[in-house]
Amino acid sequence: MVYRQLGKGGPVVSVLGYGGWALGEEGWPDVERGEALRSLEVAFECGVTLYDTAPFYGKGISEKHIGEVLASVRREIVLATKCGIQWDERHVWLSLSREDILREVEASLRRLRTDYIDLYQVHWYDQKTSVWEVCETLRELQRQGVIRYIGVCNFSASLLAKAVQWMEVVSLQAEYNLLHPEPEKELLPFCQRYQIGFIAYSPLAQGFLAGRPFDPLSQQKDVRKHHPLFKTGKWREVQSSVEEAFRFVLGQKGVSACVVSMTKPHHVRQNVAIVEKLFLSREEKSS
Ligand SMILES: NC(=O)c1ccc[n+]([C@@H]2O[C@H](COP(=O)([O-])OP(=O)(O)OC[C@H]3O[C@@H](n4cnc5c(N)ncnc54)[C@H](OP(=O)(O)O)[C@@H]3O)[C@@H](O)[C@H]2O)c1
Repeated sequence: MVYRQLGKGGPVVSVLGYGGWALGEEGWPDVERGEALRSLEVAFECGVTLYDTAPFYGKGISEKHIGEVLASVRREIVLATKCGIQWDERHVWLSLSREDILREVEASLRRLRTDYIDLYQVHWYDQKTSVWEVCETLRELQRQGVIRYIGVCNFSASLLAKAVQWMEVVSLQAEYNLLHPEPEKELLPFCQRYQIGFIAYSPLAQGFLAGRPFDPLSQQKDVRKHHPLFKTGKWREVQSSVEEAFRFVLGQKGVSACVVSMTKPHHVRQNVAIVEKLFLSREEKSS
């Protein structure tokens, strides 16, 4: 596996990270639980050390699975989860109030079966809590040792510029792939300038760049029905390969890692092999 450091003072992580969204099952119709749990074990065996999840992925299911399967290797991995999305039986909303973050982190620790989180990320900014207040709460958790590093997701460069005034942000997570190169305009240059790690999410455009089967007529809930490629009908025209997709994302200057949902063990093995072929140096390959 290939490893890079997140930001200037962050943890070293595998460039291929395990994305836990599909592991939560909801919205991913072809996930089979036994295989999905095995895919986590295989990822660890193959040297993947970054595991990215969120309370909202399957409303706790993704975090629980990661907590169960990786409990015995907890200290060898970089566990990343998030805060900011709240839900009840009927509604989903954003909140980053101090009270909500403190409640959320406790629930995540329980589900993840751990007493600390390596990378705690704001999932989405709620547009109402002041950035200063959010930073204060996260720094309080960091001082207590509950979280080791702080990251943000889906922040614009201007929002990130505010956040870095009040806390050390080791990573920004944003959508970045062959079909969505926008971060190259502002976000990637900003991250390089401030030495913030960049974690690319949806590097395979939810599977569209990997030729993953997709049935538009299926009645099942499928997150890809909300994807712009589906809405514009362009998904049928996409021609790419996993190799091209990883070369594009991980070969871009300033990208630290990507996180990929992979609930099939053979996808994990294939992705690891591609990343090693593309990015391991000749010396590393022969040793
Ligand atoms: N911070 C945020 O707001 C945010 C938003 C979106 C995503 N994320 C993170 O990013 C991660 C990845 O994003 P994503 O799930 O949207 O999309 P993605 O990783 O680009 O695509 C996932 C899909 O690709 C398939 N796949 C993986 N490897 C493959 C291979 N070698 N061949 C064929 N298909 C393959 C997976 O199938 P199988 O499952 O069947 O293996 C899955 O259906 C998420 O899990 C989450 O951790 C974060």
